[in-house]
Amino acid sequence: MGKADGIRVAVVGLGFGKEFVPIYLDHPDVASVAICDLDPERLASVGGRFAVHRRFESFDDLLAADDIDAVHLVSGIPDHAAQAIAALGCGKHCASTVPMATSLADLRAVVAAERVSGRNYMMMETAVYTRQFFHARSLLADGAFGRIQFLRGAHYQDMEQWPPYWLGLPPMWYATHAVAPLLAIADTRAVSVHCFGSGTMRPELQARYGQPFPIETAIFQLEAEGLAAEVTRTLFHAAREYMESFVVYGENACYEWQMEREDPVLFTMSPVEPGSRRAGSASRPVPADRADLLPPEIARYTQRFVYNNQETHLSFEQGGGHHGSHPHLVHEFVRSIVEGRPSAISAVTAANWTAAGICAHESAMQGGARVEVPTFG
Ligand SMILES: NC(=O)c1ccc[n+]([C@@H]2O[C@H](COP(=O)([O-])OP(=O)(O)OC[C@H]3O[C@@H](n4cnc5c(N)ncnc54)[C@H](O)[C@@H]3O)[C@@H](O)[C@H]2O)c1
Repeated sequence: MGKADGIRVAVVGLGFGKEFVPIYLDHPDVASVAICDLDPERLASVGGRFAVHRRFESFDDLLAADDIDAVHLVSGIPDHAAQAIAALGCGKHCASTVPMATSLADLRAVVAAERVSGRNYMMMETAVYTRQFFHARSLLADGAFGRIQFLRGAHYQDMEQWPPYWLGLPPMWYATHAVAPLLAIADTRAVSVHCFGSGTMRPELQARYGQPFPIETAIFQLEAEGLAAEVTRTLFHAAREYMESFVVYGENACYEWQMEREDPVLFTMSPVEPGSRRAGSASRPVPADRADLLPPEIARYTQRFVYNNQETHLSFEQGGGHHGSHPHLVHEFVRSIVEGRPSAISAVTAANWTAAGICAHESAMQGGARVEVPTFG
């Protein structure tokens, strides 16, 4: 497929979404890029900066346009599910920033919309396309872990002064950055969860979602035999610097990424021999930048962000530009459409990853009771 007969994409929501506009513009399989935002000033400013002339102030107008094949939603959390269902219903492929939805009913509705439409859905989970996660995958492929024995994830982020839908959000409703790396590396899903809310949250933050927890911590039983995972999420009243952390504990090696500004630690031990002490070592291998997996036209976007020292976005400042993930997400979404195959994070996978958090919050609201995570297949 050449550029001229490529995919016609629209990016919806130009805060974080702005970052993706030049990546689509430069992708060799993308014919054109449109932009959509309710805010006319944002629309004009992003359109001017990247010379994008096809602009929509209304999502409904975008849905009605027959010269758009695919949308990438980067709107606020409460809109993701409804907009995805509408886009798929209009025959458009749909990428959506996380989370896919905040209720099990909406997860099921997006899964059904993808199936009925025959179009592609992809949840754009940055945490499984970082350099660090690529490195973990290569360790897995090389057999370095041996049997995976346990997994742990955490996402710490202080959301004071973020847009209103964040205020008092159930922490586990936005847990995919901590959950997804664990379920992806073990190639499994969560089957049940016990979760506890922790800490106290000031009353005005409890009003919008009717829930009292600034922090939630969960233990998941996984479908993969004998495996459990632990996930913690903090949103308010916790003085921890931003971090989307994941840890893979294998029988022969453990890979721990705990500090945002430091490389992960790789612990290894000599093979288990009953009756013998195991020799161990620890190192900090620098995760490779996997721009080699990308078309040359977009390879530089693993390094260079739209947001930079002059123009900042809090999520980027705190999260190291999401560690090179953005062009990989765009490439996977676009290539899945071109190749006529499901995306790597199609609706069922996205629903499994998102449901784990939704069920965890349900458990926390029931004082830690066991909650089963449904299937979506
Ligand atoms: N690592 C990640 O994956 C990551 C990082 C940051 C943000 N996010 C997600 O990205 C989303 C956006 O984050 P943000 O910080 O840019 O938020 P934001 O609220 O600052 O920006 C959202 C933009 O979408 C526009 N918008 C809202 N509803 C719209 C509609 N119906 N039609 C068209 N435009 C609409 C708004 O005008 C605004 O410009 C959030 O939902 C968040 O979950 C993901």
